[in-house]
Amino acid sequence: MRPMNDHAPWQLPPDTLAGAVARCATRLDEAGVAFGHGTDNPWDEAVQLVLGVLGLEDGPDVAGRPLAAADWDAIAAVLDRRIGERCPLPYLLGEAHFAGLRFRCDPRALVPRSPLAELIEGGYRPWYAGPPPRRLLDLCCGGGCLGIAAAVHAPGLTVVLADLDSDALALAAENVARHGVARRVSLRRSDGFDGLAGERFDIILCNPPYVDSEDLAGMPAEFRHEPAAGLGAGDDGLDLVQRLLPTAAQHLEDHGLLLLEVGNSWPALEARYPRFPFTWVELERGGHGVAAITARELRDHAGALAYNAGAVTGQD
Ligand SMILES: C[S@@+](CC[C@H](N)C(=O)[O-])C[C@H]1O[C@@H](n2cnc3c(N)ncnc32)[C@H](O)[C@@H]1O
Repeated sequence: MRPMNDHAPWQLPPDTLAGAVARCATRLDEAGVAFGHGTDNPWDEAVQLVLGVLGLEDGPDVAGRPLAAADWDAIAAVLDRRIGERCPLPYLLGEAHFAGLRFRCDPRALVPRSPLAELIEGGYRPWYAGPPPRRLLDLCCGGGCLGIAAAVHAPGLTVVLADLDSDALALAAENVARHGVARRVSLRRSDGFDGLAGERFDIILCNPPYVDSEDLAGMPAEFRHEPAAGLGAGDDGLDLVQRLLPTAAQHLEDHGLLLLEVGNSWPALEARYPRFPFTWVELERGGHGVAAITARELRDHAGALAYNAGAVTGQD
């Protein structure tokens, strides 16, 4: 029989990892925490929490493993913080899973969760139609998850990670080292494209701040642990995007592709540029508001990208 340790009877440690997951899931559910940082339900979050604290990978024989009392204490401590502080779990664990990789994760940058992962892992098909891509830009890179995942998944690729925030770039540098891609991945401090004059890429991945003021005001407490400059982008969420789009073509090869994430702000983007032919990607793993925009479209419809072009000129 299990020794009692110092636990009160109602706090007896679960016997197995599966029991710990069930206990955590129940408490997360009852506490009404918000999800959206890599999971979308209490069970998946509990799995991440238990495995993350114990440093284990999921697998067929994991659930039935016996759980030591000290391990439950460590799990319970993180669970208490997750609930009490409403802190995103990856910040508490110091690590996030993204595109099949593990990234160092802390409040210097947003928790990785972009649906662009699906396109990176799928080789940008069917959206990229050029020769095998050689240069890729991850603009607004945060902790570097998109560009580093791109480099890991395509060994021939050279990648530039660019962000305005030096703290985010410092985290990105740690992730570059962690994944051993320093020979192919460089870092650049840049305000939009300003620090990238004269540079062209086959593919640009861009997950900029795009949350509009209404969504921002309604975000759960968990999101307030993230850097504000990574989320909010003015009344309609387009403050940065409307600066980037008119100049993006200058940084793409003729066959190039911009994959731009704007999430809930996609209707605002359509409304802002009513004559631009946006193509919205259907995402198999969930998410929305990712536009696939070719260099040719950016050039052919440059007039439609002038600020409020439609309203002002009435033509492309
Ligand atoms: C939504 S986060 C994306 C982070 C990362 N790419 C990801 O997918 O998790 C947006 C990032 O844009 C950066 N950013 C905000 N304004 C910027 C600007 N004017 N120029 C470049 N980067 C900017 C923020 O520092 C933040 O790291």
